[in-house]
Amino acid sequence: MSKQVKIVEMGPRDGLQNEKQIIPTAAKIELINLLSACGYEKIEATSFVSPKWVPQLADAAQVMAGITRKKGVKYTALTPNMRGYEGARAAGADEVAIFGSASEGFSQANINCSVDEAFARFEPVIAQAKADGIPVRGYVSCVIACPYDGPTPAEQVAKVTRQLLDMGCYEISLGDTIGAGTPATTESMLKAVLKTCDAAQLAGHFHDTGDRALANVEASLNLGLRTYDAAISGLGGCPYAPGAKGNVSSLSLLDLFDRLGYSCDLDRDSMRRAEEYTNKLQDREFEL
Ligand code: HMG
Ligand code: MG
Repeated sequence: MSKQVKIVEMGPRDGLQNEKQIIPTAAKIELINLLSACGYEKIEATSFVSPKWVPQLADAAQVMAGITRKKGVKYTALTPNMRGYEGARAAGADEVAIFGSASEGFSQANINCSVDEAFARFEPVIAQAKADGIPVRGYVSCVIACPYDGPTPAEQVAKVTRQLLDMGCYEISLGDTIGAGTPATTESMLKAVLKTCDAAQLAGHFHDTGDRALANVEASLNLGLRTYDAAISGLGGCPYAPGAKGNVSSLSLLDLFDRLGYSCDLDRDSMRRAEEYTNKLQDREFEL
C-alpha cells in the first residue's frame, strides 16, 4: 500500500469560521498566502455561506479576490446551496465542497434542514459544478457522534457517504466534528464505510477535542486512507457544534507521518512561518 499521504489545509475555513472576533480580510489573505508557500495541493480558503450564520467568513469574495494564487495550488470553498455555489464560482474557486451530516440534529443546527433536504439542495450544485468542470468534494459530519443526537450508527455514515459519491462527489471527507472518536470507534466506522467504497475515495477530518485526533489518523492510515484534513496550528472548530476544538494541527500531523514512515510533500519551515502567523492572529498581534 502506498506510503504517500496528503494534507488538505483547513485553517482559513474550518479554523477562522470559529474565531470569536472577526479577523480582518487582509490578515486572512496573508495567512492563505503564507500557506500557499507550504506545498499544499489544496487550501480550503473560505465558505460561501450565509453571513448571518457565519459572520466570520462574510468576506469570502474579497478574500478570494485578494489572495496571490500559486500555480499548482487549488483554492477551495464550502458551498451549501446554489447561492453559495454561484458566489464561489464567480470568485474563481478551483473546487467546491458540499457538507452534509450523518445525524439529523447536527444537520438542522448547521444548515437548517434535514439530512434528506440537504441532498435536495446539493443536487443542483453538483449538476452545475459538473457542467462548469468544477470538482465537488463532500463532507459527512458527525461520523462518530453528534452533539445533539449522541452516537452515530456506522451504517448511517456509510449510507450518506455512498449517497454523496453516487451524486458525483469525487471524495468524501469523514468528519469527527466533535472529536469524539477513539481508534476503536474510528476503525469500526471506517470498516462499515469501506464496505461501500474504496479508501482512495475517503479523507479523514478529525477535530482534536478529545486529544485523540492523531491516534484516529493512525487507525485510518492502517485502513488505507491517505488524505487528511488538518488546520495550521490546530485552529478552529464548528460554531454549530458546541465545544468542538480545531482540526488536528497540520504540523503535528506531518510529524506523525514522519514517525510512521509516510511521505508528505510539505515544507516544514514554511509551515512554521504560517503557524507563527496563525498564533499571532489568535493573540490579535498581527500587523497589516
Ligand atoms: P437558511 O436560513 O435556512 O436559508 O440557511 P435561507 O435560504 O432561508 O436563507 C437565509 C438568508 O441567508 C437569506 O438572506 C439568504 O439570502 C441568505 P435574507 O433574505 O434573510 O437576507 N443565504 C445566503 N447568503 C450568502 N451565501 C449563501 C446563502 N444562502 C442563503 N450561500 C444556510 C441555510 C445553509 C444558508 C445556512 O444554514 C448556512 O449558511 N449554514 C452554514 C453553516 C456553516 O457554515 N457551518 C460551518 C461549516 S460546516 C463544518 O464546519 C463541518 C465540517 O468542517 C466537517 C466536520 O468537521 O464535521 C465541514
Ligand atoms: Mg470540521
